Amino acid sequence: MNIIHVSSYEELSRKAADIIAAQVILKPDCILGLATGSTPIGTYQNLIKKYQQGDLDFSKVTTFNLDEYLGLTPDHPQSYRYFMNDNLFYHVNVHPECTHVPDGCAADPKAYGLAYDQAILEQGGIDLQLLGIGNNGHIAFNEPADEFVKETHTVELKQSTIEANKRFFESIEQVPTKAITMGMGSIMKAKKVLLIADGPAKKEAIEKAFYGPICPQVPASILQLHPDLTVICHLD
Ligand code: GLP
Repeated sequence: MNIIHVSSYEELSRKAADIIAAQVILKPDCILGLATGSTPIGTYQNLIKKYQQGDLDFSKVTTFNLDEYLGLTPDHPQSYRYFMNDNLFYHVNVHPECTHVPDGCAADPKAYGLAYDQAILEQGGIDLQLLGIGNNGHIAFNEPADEFVKETHTVELKQSTIEANKRFFESIEQVPTKAITMGMGSIMKAKKVLLIADGPAKKEAIEKAFYGPICPQVPASILQLHPDLTVICHLD
């Protein structure tokens, strides 16, 4: 585990983008696992800049996103599909059909989740998984629980997560209470994991996740067992 402390959000974003760019340069047809939330926005902006400067080519890249709110259609401005299109995909030359975000409106979410995991496996697995972290230690939408769940599955969001994410919606009532999320299986099977955390609100989650015991009540703590984990933190 490599924990890098940086002194600004800008530095965090540049370093994270450099690591992702290196992955794409070394393996142009790589599989990237991507994340949403406010933290990766700067990372995506740096990747777009590198693409515009001619330093990065996404034409052979495939992406799989971590999660999606249940019930939000892809054109809903708060859906994670909309976020990814708006913050990355529409600004680089990734082929739209090679980008995957879980379908929050799947008729049979359980079967859909298994098919999503299978699609990742068939592509050869994730080369580099980007993660944020929730204030309560969640990764993707794997909330604190009594056990780690392996497959892509649906979850009830914790009240603390709904509170934390209400800033993106007009009112708390509009925040979906359920989501579909990649489980720990595909995340832990990723060849490399890069977790980014910004701001004092993430300090406790980072301490518990990487300096405390491994337990499902702190979902990110399982990453301590990952053989190639980099954490970039700006916690001031
Ligand atoms: C959501 C996402 C997570 C993300 C978290 C933190 O809950 N499902 O993938 O890590 O928010 O978001 P932020 O970066 O805005 O703090």
